[in-house]
Amino acid sequence: MTEYKIAVIAGDGIGPEVIAEGVKVLNKTAELDGSFRFDFTYFPWGCEYYLKNGRMMAEDGMEQLAKFDAIYMGAAGFPGVPDHISLRDLLLVIRKGFDQYVNLRPVKLLKGAPCPLKDVKREDIDMIFIRENSEGEYAGDGSFEKVGTPEETAIQKGIFTRKGCERIMRYAFELARKEGKSVTSISKGNALNYSMVFWDKIFAEISAEYPDVETHSLLVDAAAMFMVKDPKRFQVVVTSNLFGDILTDLGAAISGGMGLAAGANLNPERKFPSMFEPIHGSAPDIAGKGIASPLASIWSAAQMLDFFGHEDWGRKVISSIEAVLVDGAPLTPDLGGAAHCEEIGNAVVQKLVSM
Ligand code: NAI
Ligand code: MG
Repeated sequence: MTEYKIAVIAGDGIGPEVIAEGVKVLNKTAELDGSFRFDFTYFPWGCEYYLKNGRMMAEDGMEQLAKFDAIYMGAAGFPGVPDHISLRDLLLVIRKGFDQYVNLRPVKLLKGAPCPLKDVKREDIDMIFIRENSEGEYAGDGSFEKVGTPEETAIQKGIFTRKGCERIMRYAFELARKEGKSVTSISKGNALNYSMVFWDKIFAEISAEYPDVETHSLLVDAAAMFMVKDPKRFQVVVTSNLFGDILTDLGAAISGGMGLAAGANLNPERKFPSMFEPIHGSAPDIAGKGIASPLASIWSAAQMLDFFGHEDWGRKVISSIEAVLVDGAPLTPDLGGAAHCEEIGNAVVQKLVSM
């Protein structure tokens, strides 16, 4: 029997509620399959931990996490702790420290999921965003200059390396080739005259290595417009850290909302654990009410199953989510229902069993 050791960082706000349902679903797939099992270890890291200990994770947190096969993460952030601390000192430390340079975010309109766009068929929204996750605009480099003077200035550096660009683009091309899809690169070479000119140059080089894959290049502003006006243009999308962050929230909005959007932070070489999470935050506005949708965290559990080579179970989990959405009940308020988080998890488990 294969055992997967999973580090769970449920985090803040709705994190623990939605992660509990994902754990339930993972355990059920293991039980139904019989050839693998999960061993979950819970870490109390996040904003509450910060307020007690002055840090978001234990001092040797990365060493502790390195021993696991994967990390299952809820959300970090809560009023009372500045967002740049809660985000940078936990999530970004893990993404960077474990070289999880691929952020894989499906933007796919599932059967039964609501879509605010007019005249769009369900099949037209079926994209996979490959967001650069280790450098770029989120490299964290910069300075404050001339503080306290009228010339006070903030400098935020974007760091784009050849290695970083090449590997994320190759990942996108390999995926597109495997799935017979096109690759669209999203950049902004007209305004960002160093970083994005460099990105475009490397995209042209890597494209030449994959003559069999159809490619497109778009400026980020036009891409945002086309995601709304003509989403079927996009199949595999490769883009930078900042642009990917923003466009995948737009992607969530056109494919069922934040309660349905999942993301995997992958170290494809498997030298370090990868991390699976819903892309939403801790939602302090609904935290503790039990009404958060766990579907995003369940979808990210499906991504974990895919990553471990259990694509059949990954597909079944997605089909179970779709079956619940098509039934139209139970659903949480963000999807027009009145059900509790836990009921949704139970409904997905029930569908899994009858699959
Ligand atoms: P958010 O994603 O937490 O919430 C945005 C809106 O979506 C809210 O109205 C919320 O109620 C709704 N929403 C989010 N997830 C939902 C779910 N599962 N079911 C139903 N409705 C859901 O983003 P916001 O409000 O900007 O950030 C709140 C906190 O979360 C901040 O501290 C922020 O820094 C942090 N954050 C953390 C992230 C992470 O850990 N990956 C990602 C984004 C934000
Ligand atoms: Mg985001």
